Amino acid sequence: MPSLTYRRMADIAAWVGLTPRFCEVDEDTLSLSAETVNACINENTAIILAVHPIVNCCDVQQLIELGRAKNIPVLFDSVESVYEAVPTGKVGGIGEAEVFSMHASKLLNGFEGGYVTTNNAELAEKLSILRTFGFKGQDNCVIDGALNAKLNEIHAAMALANLDDIERLVQDNKKRYQVYEKGLAELKGLRLLDFNQAYPTSYKNIVAEVLGDWSLSRDLTVSILNTENILARAYYSPPLHKKKMAYSYIPAELPVTEELSEKFLLLPCGDLVTTEDIEEVIGLLRFIGQHGTEILMHLDILQKNNE
Ligand SMILES: Cc1ncc(COP(=O)(O)O)c(C=O)c1O
Repeated sequence: MPSLTYRRMADIAAWVGLTPRFCEVDEDTLSLSAETVNACINENTAIILAVHPIVNCCDVQQLIELGRAKNIPVLFDSVESVYEAVPTGKVGGIGEAEVFSMHASKLLNGFEGGYVTTNNAELAEKLSILRTFGFKGQDNCVIDGALNAKLNEIHAAMALANLDDIERLVQDNKKRYQVYEKGLAELKGLRLLDFNQAYPTSYKNIVAEVLGDWSLSRDLTVSILNTENILARAYYSPPLHKKKMAYSYIPAELPVTEELSEKFLLLPCGDLVTTEDIEEVIGLLRFIGQHGTEILMHLDILQKNNE
């Protein structure tokens, strides 16, 4: 699995009795690639967990070909790629299986919950048995330790209501993205990550790269935004291989991931964010960009006063 990804991804591998091993990501796509995964494969590799990055999708075809060549199943975490498509087809029908989240922060919001898609009938049956106490037929428990993992009615109703609205949600996301695109284009030192519009995309997450000519660090920029009640976040930072874990994992040196993990920030997005909110965010970023040196000077004085 990549290390530059969702903060609890390694727990999932440990939970099913596997040992997480982290691979590099590609500098341009922020995604794992066939090349970075291949460098980590050995005789112990059980599965390739291909996680789509927050903006755009992995190179799905190359990863599937690698999995086929090595005889290792490829599972896609498509949580951040709902609605999207790649050259070979729509997200949801790719690889051994794909997993999705319906957490309230996701495009398809069911408050909580998630789902798995697969074209493997055997796996589909096993998953549906696992979801319903391990029952195959009434009171015939065929899997020990299975869960009651059904989506409850309220969550399902919320998800269905949002599904009816999905085209509108995506169109509104596109408008938000375009406001960011216009505003950030005028700021030297910040680069908005572009959505690949050649295929259907959700336009949902707004990620910007802090470049060398931005006077403050990414972390300080996020911290100032947060102080002003703008809920910006560092993009997947720290990366997973740098975190403390209670279970064993394979240590890795991932210089590209480490460098990238200090460069990107997530800006407010989603259905509750208005054009005016975005203009306020851009206004503050403009202010930070123009006054970076003075801000640093004042922070330095404050720190010295506190010492
Ligand atoms: C890429 C990715 N995978 C998995 C998850 C976990 O989803 P859930 O919160 O539904 O467990 C998240 C949550 O943000 C995520 O971003």
